[in-house]
Amino acid sequence: MSKRIKIAIDGPAAAGKSTIAKKVGFKLGYTYIDTGAMYRALTYKASASNIDMEDGDKLSELLDQIEILLVPSSEGQSVIVDGEDITNAIRSKSVTNNVSAVAKHAKVRRLMVQKQRDLTTLVNGVVMDGRDIGTTVLPDAELKIFMTASVQERAKRRYTEDEARGITTSLEQLEKEISDRDRADSERIESPLRQADDAIYIDTTSKTIEEVADEISKLAEGRLGE
Ligand code: C5P
Repeated sequence: MSKRIKIAIDGPAAAGKSTIAKKVGFKLGYTYIDTGAMYRALTYKASASNIDMEDGDKLSELLDQIEILLVPSSEGQSVIVDGEDITNAIRSKSVTNNVSAVAKHAKVRRLMVQKQRDLTTLVNGVVMDGRDIGTTVLPDAELKIFMTASVQERAKRRYTEDEARGITTSLEQLEKEISDRDRADSERIESPLRQADDAIYIDTTSKTIEEVADEISKLAEGRLGE
């Protein structure tokens, strides 16, 4: 089997991580794993079961009981939990605005990290995106990227995405939501969002998706040659 590597892509909300990670996965023939979708899936299930987002014990019990499947699809990845397709539901405003509270609990993160590592043992060649992939989930990843963009640019991109889904939120409101989520993710005690020491920093503010995906694919090819 040809040599393949693990690629970790971290960064703040709406920096383009998932779109680009998906493209890189496709270009290289690697499996793409969206870890944010897993935290979102737990948040969705917790809300459906009326579980308090501050109750780390209950949330981790729930996580232990549910089965989260990330299934490759024409649009990238479907999220199936206990047989229910919640791919679109996990992008709702309420999930987006509650997910950081769920993700801050140490017990939840320990279980989640284990599930994420288990997923990588099943595949050869992986692109995983999230907040703590390079620092905690895959500290041995051969290529680590820390991807960001200005908050104004990220809000603009989210605005366009939301608009296509029939949701209209003002740019100011989106900037606020994104900044609040970044703050919560960066200030939490358990594996906060931060750049790994050996990660390559990419600012995507004035770059196209294609440019960044090419840049990362080339870096991956370089690592394969090492
Ligand atoms: O990437 P996405 O915006 O879908 O992630 C949703 C949320 O899940 C993040 O804001 C963060 O609170 C949490 N998350 C995390 N660690 C990861 C991936 C996501 O804490 N590896």
